Amino acid sequence: MVLDIEVMAAPFYLEEKVLAQVIIQDITQRKMAEKLLTDREKLVSIGQIATGIAHEVKNPLTAVKGFLQLLKESKSHPYLDMMESELEKALATLQNLLQVSKPDLHEESLVPIDLCQELESLLFLFQERLYNVKLEMDLRNSERKIIGKRNLFLKAFFNLIKNAIEAIQETGKIKIEHYYQNEWIHIKVSDTGVGIPEDKVKMLGTPFFSTKSEGTGLGLTQVFTTIHKHGGNISIHSTIGKGTTFHIQLPVR
Ligand SMILES: Nc1ncnc2c1ncn2[C@@H]1O[C@H](COP(=O)(O)OP(=O)(O)O)[C@@H](O)[C@H]1O
Ligand SMILES: [Mg+2]
Repeated sequence: MVLDIEVMAAPFYLEEKVLAQVIIQDITQRKMAEKLLTDREKLVSIGQIATGIAHEVKNPLTAVKGFLQLLKESKSHPYLDMMESELEKALATLQNLLQVSKPDLHEESLVPIDLCQELESLLFLFQERLYNVKLEMDLRNSERKIIGKRNLFLKAFFNLIKNAIEAIQETGKIKIEHYYQNEWIHIKVSDTGVGIPEDKVKMLGTPFFSTKSEGTGLGLTQVFTTIHKHGGNISIHSTIGKGTTFHIQLPVR
C-alpha cells in the first residue's frame, strides 16, 4: 500500500542529549479533499471562461445570420439554407449555455405553481422513451403551491427526469414523489439506474461535469441554480448499481 505522509522532525534535549522527535502523519484524506476542491475550482473557472466566450461569439454570429437572410432574399442557393441551419444550431448551443449561467436573462415573473400538474404534463414529453422504464407517480398535496418562475422549474424537472432515464441501461423504474411536510414541499426523483460514485457526487452541479459521451454537464447546473434561487435545498443519495434519488425541498410561501 502506498500512503501520502507528512513528516515533521524537531530536535529536543533530554539530559544534555540531543534527540529527534519525528511525527509522521497520514495525509491521504487531506490530499484527496484538496484535489476535489481544485478539480471543482477548475471546472467553475472553465465554466466562467466558456460563458465569456459564448457572449463574445454570439453577437458576430447573430450578425452573420442577419446577412445570410438578406442574401437569401436576393438570391437563393441550397448552401445558404444549410449555412443558416448550421448557424442556428451554433446559436442554440450558445443560448443554452448563457441561459444556464444567467437564468434570469428574461426576467420571468413569479407565479403560483402547481408542481403536481406540471410534473404530470412533463412526463408526456418522455412517453416514447419510457417503454422500457416503469414509471411510478406518487403526487400528494397538490393544493400546496410554490411561488416561482415556472419555466425554470419546468426545465429543472425536465433535466432531472432526462438524467433518470439516461441512467437506466436496460429496464428499470423511475419514481416521482411530491408531498408537503413541515412547511416544505418535497419532490423526489428516484431511478434504479447506474448510480453515481461517491467521489463524483460532490462534482454534480458544476458546469461541464459530465460522464456521458454526448453530455453537456449543464443540466444539473440549471437544476441547482433554479432550486437555490427559490430558497430550496437539494440532496442526492446514490448507490452504485442500485440507483439514485434527487430530493428537493422548496419553501411554501
Ligand atoms: N440520475 C442519475 N444517475 C446517475 N448519474 C447521474 C444522474 N443524474 C446525473 N448524473 C451524473 O451527473 C452528470 C451531470 O449531469 P448533467 O448536468 O445533467 O449533464 P449531462 O446529462 O449532460 O451529462 C451526468 O453526466 C451523470 O454522470
Ligand atoms: Mg443531463
